[in-house]
Amino acid sequence: GTTLGASAAEKGRYFGAAVPAFKLSDSQFASIVNREFNQLTPENEMKWDATEPQQGRFTYSGGDQIVAHAQSHGMLVRGHTLLWYQQQPGWAQGMSGTALRNAAINHVTQVATHYRGKIYAWDVVNEAFADGGSGGRRDSNLQRTGNDWIEAAFRAARAADPGAKLCYNDYNTDGINAKSTGIYNMVRDFKSRGVPIDCVGFQSHLGTSVPGDYQANLQRFADLGVDVQITELDITQGSNQANAYAQVTRACMAIPRCTGITVWGVRDSDSWRGNDNPLLFDRSGNKKAAYTSVLNAL
Ligand code: XIL
Repeated sequence: GTTLGASAAEKGRYFGAAVPAFKLSDSQFASIVNREFNQLTPENEMKWDATEPQQGRFTYSGGDQIVAHAQSHGMLVRGHTLLWYQQQPGWAQGMSGTALRNAAINHVTQVATHYRGKIYAWDVVNEAFADGGSGGRRDSNLQRTGNDWIEAAFRAARAADPGAKLCYNDYNTDGINAKSTGIYNMVRDFKSRGVPIDCVGFQSHLGTSVPGDYQANLQRFADLGVDVQITELDITQGSNQANAYAQVTRACMAIPRCTGITVWGVRDSDSWRGNDNPLLFDRSGNKKAAYTSVLNAL
């Protein structure tokens, strides 16, 4: 293929990008998106603060715009994200206990129902594990409602949209380490008890290098019987950027259950990472060396 999306599709995968709704009317941005990608993730529009700014009042305009754009261009949508400790509306930040648990599960049900049939995969829960060596959960208002909050969220999402793949998504899980092993143990437990989980997302916000056991880590999750996806890929600019992008791409392509790769933005000027220039297109919209390296690795 001559584009990322077409090349990935030839191998039965997607290649996507995170986009904010307002940039779809930027013609340079939209022409790159429409040419290169066959999957979109809303960068912020489906998060809790955006979709339920006041309790029980749901606003879907930004997410709907991205879904409509994707559908009219034959692209998949990854829903991101139903529950996360960040970007919660103020009203939820101040809640706890049963009231918060009920509000959170209602949020999952309402949003997944609104988008039923339109989402390829949902990041049901984002970033619930702690950094460092504990391998345990991150402290948060959601975690304090009880350790079973994650499985409750997955069960509610399955009931609301039985056709969507349901993913757990996190960062600093790119190699075999205490955090990724904590998640691995949760997924194994969910599979053994019949908690509905279909996929694990590896954000892959990377520095200048890729862990040597990146592929082995993806493989051990796939071996549990879930799909794996690279969900928020960006890699610091430097002499190794193109090589690191190729390494990540090859790792995914080597694993049949790695179903797709999403970069977290299009041009370096679109990145949330300021001056790291971690994406595949430069600030003028030109293809970087990293782009060619990914295309060749697909
Ligand atoms: C980031 C967005 O890119 C920014 O626009 C926003 O201000 C903060 O969130 N992990 C995630 C994403 O799961 O949702 C985050 O996106 C980046 C880190």
